Amino acid sequence: MTHVQAGPTCSQLLAWMGADVIKFENPQGDATRGQLRDVPNADSLYFTMLNCNKRSITVNMKSAEGKQVFVDLLKKCHIIMENFGPGVLERFGFTWEKIHELNPKIVMGSIKGFGSSGPYADFKAYENVAQAMGGSMSTTGVPDGPPFVTGAQIGDSGTGLHLAIGLLAALRQAEHTGQGQYVEVAMMDGVMNLCRVKFRDHQRLMRGDLPEYSVPTYKDMGDVPRAGNDSGGGQLGNAIHCKPHGANDWLYIVVQEAVWDALARRIGPDIHIPDLATDARFAAIGERRKNQQLMWTLINKFAEKHTKRELMAILNPLDVPCGPIMSTEDLATDEHVRGRDMWVELDHPQRGKWWNVGMPIKLSASPAKIERSPTLGEHTDEVLRDVLQYDESRISSLKQAGAFSAPAKTPKKAA
Ligand SMILES: CC(C)(COP(=O)(O)OP(=O)(O)OC[C@H]1O[C@@H](n2cnc3c(N)ncnc32)[C@H](O)[C@@H]1OP(=O)(O)O)[C@@H](O)C(=O)NCCC(=O)NCCS
Repeated sequence: MTHVQAGPTCSQLLAWMGADVIKFENPQGDATRGQLRDVPNADSLYFTMLNCNKRSITVNMKSAEGKQVFVDLLKKCHIIMENFGPGVLERFGFTWEKIHELNPKIVMGSIKGFGSSGPYADFKAYENVAQAMGGSMSTTGVPDGPPFVTGAQIGDSGTGLHLAIGLLAALRQAEHTGQGQYVEVAMMDGVMNLCRVKFRDHQRLMRGDLPEYSVPTYKDMGDVPRAGNDSGGGQLGNAIHCKPHGANDWLYIVVQEAVWDALARRIGPDIHIPDLATDARFAAIGERRKNQQLMWTLINKFAEKHTKRELMAILNPLDVPCGPIMSTEDLATDEHVRGRDMWVELDHPQRGKWWNVGMPIKLSASPAKIERSPTLGEHTDEVLRDVLQYDESRISSLKQAGAFSAPAKTPKKAA
């Protein structure tokens, strides 16, 4: 019962790891099927990219017959997951206690914006709301600018990953104890978990400044500041602008302690500071931290004559950790990415050829075989027959009773 992005990320991942995932859909379909459409009347990429390797069954949970189908499925399945707004499943009559009673071994996964307890529990949430409330936005951006969201979907997809981990642990425990359990992940909690190092810095600020930050910090300043492209770790790092200075002509480099000498020897002569490696302003890490703005200026000066790929080719033999800022186009055409099955071509009956980002977890004996997403209700009959063993006459009477079609709209009462 997962929809939009957070839940489907989890269920798609489990499907890629071998689970038989039945997407139990509202007869109107997951809203993302129709959102941001690029091909008329076809399931959108928003939907297809998050719902691969699943079977789709539509069930009207606002009918008694639909609820019975749900109960029958509950008794057959190992996991039920949902990411509805607060209270939706309970309004259908299915609390965790009720579900546990129906199938004591089933594991239930639930994503909410803020979990089931606390002052925020009743609120809905989307990606950027979670980024705002989990500490990511206040620590992303440049100090004088507004807070920024990050392009990585840490609120939605990040929470889906957290849920998958919790479900696998609960599933393993249920094998031993015979008892399922309720696994809850709040998006806000998931984002906080991913911002762990920012809370490291939050506490360090109680004792002193943060010398590795390129922006000013001082004891008891309270909020961890936005620090642009600073590395965020013990080593200094930054994005260096390269030739021809377009939007993505940048190379991120980490000036690791161990590589400074080799780096300074290589770039020093070209920027007319032949003794850069022994220059007291940079020779020790403490001094480099204090003078890091100047150090970045010097490295940027060296980079003026090189593209990001050329600079990478210069720095790799020196063992300097670095990586070009890759655009989506760079990645979609990258040999390394293709070679690792991370950009996978698929076909779809409504939209034809399309591409999905591949499975990042590589299992040696059971690698993911990526298959297209289902059309709405494509497997309703198949699941009723093969999983629930309903016969044809039962299926057709349930259809007539409206178990698989959109709930009738309740007419509005006249004022
Ligand atoms: C994402 C979110 C904001 C979307 O809100 P929304 O579009 O209003 O959807 P909700 O989940 O609140 O409600 C779903 C509706 O579909 C109905 N529905 C869902 N499945 C149904 C089914 N099989 N049969 C009949 N009705 C169904 C529900 O009854 C509910 O309608 P109701 O409010 O009349 O009860 C909300 O689901 C949410 O906060 N989810 C938790 C956090 C989350 O996952 N957010 C990230 C999404 S990427």
